[in-house]
Amino acid sequence: MTTISASAPGKFVILGEHAVVYGKPALALAIDMRFSIRVSRSNSYKVNGQAATPYNMSPHMRYISDKIGTSPVSIYVDGRVPSGSGLGSSAALSNAYAAAISALEGLPTDKETIARLAYEAEYASQGRGSPMDTSASANGYGIALNVPYKEEDFLWHIEKEDNAWDISKIDVPKMTFVIGNTGIKAATGPLVEKVRKYRESNTFAAGIVDEIGDVTLDGLEAMKNNDLEELGALMTYDHKLLSILGVSCNELNHMVEAAIPYSYGAKLTGSGGGGCMVALTDRPEKVAKAIRAHGGTPYVIHTGVKGVTVK
Ligand code: MEV
Repeated sequence: MTTISASAPGKFVILGEHAVVYGKPALALAIDMRFSIRVSRSNSYKVNGQAATPYNMSPHMRYISDKIGTSPVSIYVDGRVPSGSGLGSSAALSNAYAAAISALEGLPTDKETIARLAYEAEYASQGRGSPMDTSASANGYGIALNVPYKEEDFLWHIEKEDNAWDISKIDVPKMTFVIGNTGIKAATGPLVEKVRKYRESNTFAAGIVDEIGDVTLDGLEAMKNNDLEELGALMTYDHKLLSILGVSCNELNHMVEAAIPYSYGAKLTGSGGGGCMVALTDRPEKVAKAIRAHGGTPYVIHTGVKGVTVK
């Protein structure tokens, strides 16, 4: 019997979350935490050996099954990207599942096709959002959205409603990051909605969103110049801008403050409201200890991670 295995990584955002929803620039890196999914044909749907129906599977998987029109499958999900923590777990799951099912049905599994399908699944399940997480997971390594790029770095263009994103690959210098998980789960959809309402009702909030985009472009320049001092300072500044937008929380602020003495800079990452912060550092043990002392779980992150793979 044909069994297909596919896997896809989570991601973190160095700069640009929330503003990217409105077509502003953003930078995201794949992380070495991933989901692997094995699928094979079956008489009925099963997930990890348990009876399931498309209606009690995750909404992302249900969307992809419906879209592809697959017959029942047995699905094994392995690996881990912490959910509700801004690390792109639903994007990783959607990419891995989309690639596995597509391969089983003899459909294309190139990164662009999978990134588009996974984004449609995210959009249908979580509401308004950007294709950042799904594109970062599909391509792997590092991606930029809506920044000036060389033709050979262009990956794909995605449009949704009145927003559009040019997605390109970026060279990522060797850097060490420590992610700190508050353990507070916060769904992306309501946070994106909170920023949307604030941006529409407050002209200063719209200016903050624009400023996040500008900070991201400066950050890309700093990354190209391998200027970690500058990149870190921009990350910390971005955290302040995100706090003004109302997507930070005390736990994130405390962990960011605790990491800063041992870091080039630190900020929340992803949608916020809980979830994770990230610090750019060359003293990962010190940062990890500071995060632990503030009740968080640290993960030391290595970059240079492959995107979606199918076997
Ligand atoms: C989530 O990782 C990042 C947000 O910008 C939402 C999105 O881009 O879809 C908050």
